Amino acid sequence: MVRHFLRDDDLNPSEQSAVLDLADTFAADRFHARPLEGPRAVAVIFDKPSTRTRVSFSVGIAELGGYPLVIDSSTTQMGRGESVEDTTRVLERMVSALVWRTFDQSAVEAMAGVSTVPVVNALTDDFHPCQLLADLQAVRQHKGGLAGLVVTYLGDAANNLAHSFLLAGATAGMHVRIAGPDGHLPRADIVADAEQIATRTGGSVVVTTSAQKAVEGADVLATDTWVSMGQEEQTAHRQRLFGDYCIDAAAMSRADPAAVVLHCLPAYRGKEIAAEVLDGPQSIVWDEAENRLHAQKALLTWLLAPGQA
Ligand code: CP
Ligand code: NVA
Repeated sequence: MVRHFLRDDDLNPSEQSAVLDLADTFAADRFHARPLEGPRAVAVIFDKPSTRTRVSFSVGIAELGGYPLVIDSSTTQMGRGESVEDTTRVLERMVSALVWRTFDQSAVEAMAGVSTVPVVNALTDDFHPCQLLADLQAVRQHKGGLAGLVVTYLGDAANNLAHSFLLAGATAGMHVRIAGPDGHLPRADIVADAEQIATRTGGSVVVTTSAQKAVEGADVLATDTWVSMGQEEQTAHRQRLFGDYCIDAAAMSRADPAAVVLHCLPAYRGKEIAAEVLDGPQSIVWDEAENRLHAQKALLTWLLAPGQA
């Protein structure tokens, strides 16, 4: 049966661990495996801007022996209204996997519903699961493991990153704390899914409006822009709303002294994260960004032959 990666819990705990192990293998040896030898093509489709995702999938697919077919959807018939299903039925005849950055989670689900090749979510409004693989890999590299660590996410707690931290962190057996203002907290069904996963992995989930409580003793602090793609007209309002939920020196002083800091980037210094933190010694954001390459190569390799990694 074809496997897709549409949300973080599409990999169970042992599968997530296997993909992260393979990501470490690719980090040590960029040309460890070439499952796309041929070259076989992978379509990487963008409905939103991207730097890291575009480059890491392009380079990664090439390093796997394949051909990255990077598509700006606005220049295709998708941009003129051709349906997801018809587009998928055509593309899957020619490519070995489909990677898509778009708005609605229902769109990647519709693609997966008809695709006979793996579909990968490269960010939707609801989840950014490829990012979390890179994040978890970075935490493992710096902390030696994941289970039992406290990971605190501050900021827009209703966005794709917050939701992905809930699911991926719970899958890894982490204690996930999510803090944001009232009205911008995670979706209840995703919190419930994360709690359910945590009961099996030994992790836990806390959602709170108290940034101070959330960062107390945390091993990992994470944040993301307060203004996600598509929300630009709300910028002024959001910058007022999330002001108490930034990672600054005060937040760092409450976290564990050996805490590491994640940010998926792009970052807005002086907004969700202080420059001294992003550019400081506890920041692991550049390793995190590099890991997009290794983690996505591992994911594609695994999806092309699930269980064999
Ligand atoms: N973190 C991330 O997905 O970056 P891009 O938007 O540049 O791809
Ligand atoms: N939450 C951000 C992540 C960017 C990588 C957005 O969706 O724009």
